[in-house]
Amino acid sequence: MRKVIVDCDPGHDDIMAILSLLAHPDEIDVLGFTTVCGNNLMPRVTDNLCRVLSYLNIDKKVACGYDSPLVLDPEPQDAHGESGLDGPILPSSKLKPIELKAVEFIKEMALEHDKITIVALAPLTNIAMFIKTFPELKNKIECITLMGGSRSSGNILKRSEFNFYGDPHSADIVFKSGIPVIMSDIEICAECSTSHKIIDGLKGQGKVHDLCYDILNFFSEYNRKRNVDSSPIFDLVPVMHMLHPELFITRKCQVDIELDGKYTRGMSVVSEGDNCLLIEHLKDNTLYNNYFLEDLNILERNNSGN
Ligand code: RIB
Ligand code: CA
Repeated sequence: MRKVIVDCDPGHDDIMAILSLLAHPDEIDVLGFTTVCGNNLMPRVTDNLCRVLSYLNIDKKVACGYDSPLVLDPEPQDAHGESGLDGPILPSSKLKPIELKAVEFIKEMALEHDKITIVALAPLTNIAMFIKTFPELKNKIECITLMGGSRSSGNILKRSEFNFYGDPHSADIVFKSGIPVIMSDIEICAECSTSHKIIDGLKGQGKVHDLCYDILNFFSEYNRKRNVDSSPIFDLVPVMHMLHPELFITRKCQVDIELDGKYTRGMSVVSEGDNCLLIEHLKDNTLYNNYFLEDLNILERNNSGN
């Protein structure tokens, strides 16, 4: 049983990744969630997560993390709307965050368990501060599997992906930490894109599917307006690699983070080396999306009693 903490900034794609993880309780023990400033500011991303978990009657620990990057200022993104999770209308959450802050929660879980895996779906502020605060616990982290970076593109600047752009100093700390890192970058996310036909087919299939439709219909609007017929659900990729590694081709590489570039802030420079396992290619997009749909069906069946 893999012990997992999810660090996130919900965020439409964060929620999809979380739902897929929660569909495999026999394989993945989600110890809890830590939230961090990224897509939106801390109160909103935390409230977004709690509302979704509460709406689906999922009782998990949520620990609040950093409300700003290590050095730079927060830059909330329009892609997720005013609330950070525009689209679904969700009731107020019955679930409240725990007292422990994110870094302390990760420390407690690292002490309690033999090894933990961190799924990092946002700027890496919480993770970097855990590494800096408790370096003696680095060996308790089996790996950090993250969505972030790019080999040759960018979604915030020409060569910068948002999670690394949002807090480049923290990304630099993570890649220099010596903890095994698995990187799902923009390019692999593009290969894993989900068709708008699949998204539209979610509607009317039950409470979980309707929630996912409302989330993904909003999230895919950007591409629909540009007559692109699919959208990458970015944060879902590291989770699908964890659940179905046979679907992917990977290779070791060296990743260095640009800290000082005016036009390349947070750029991930990929070269020969071994501080990172790059998820390089997807073998079968149809199978990938079928696994995702299977996860939603599992959650729908589990939720049918609620
Ligand atoms: O670049 C994509 C990443 O930025 C995803 O984690 C998305 O949720 C946003 O945080
Ligand atoms: Ca995210």
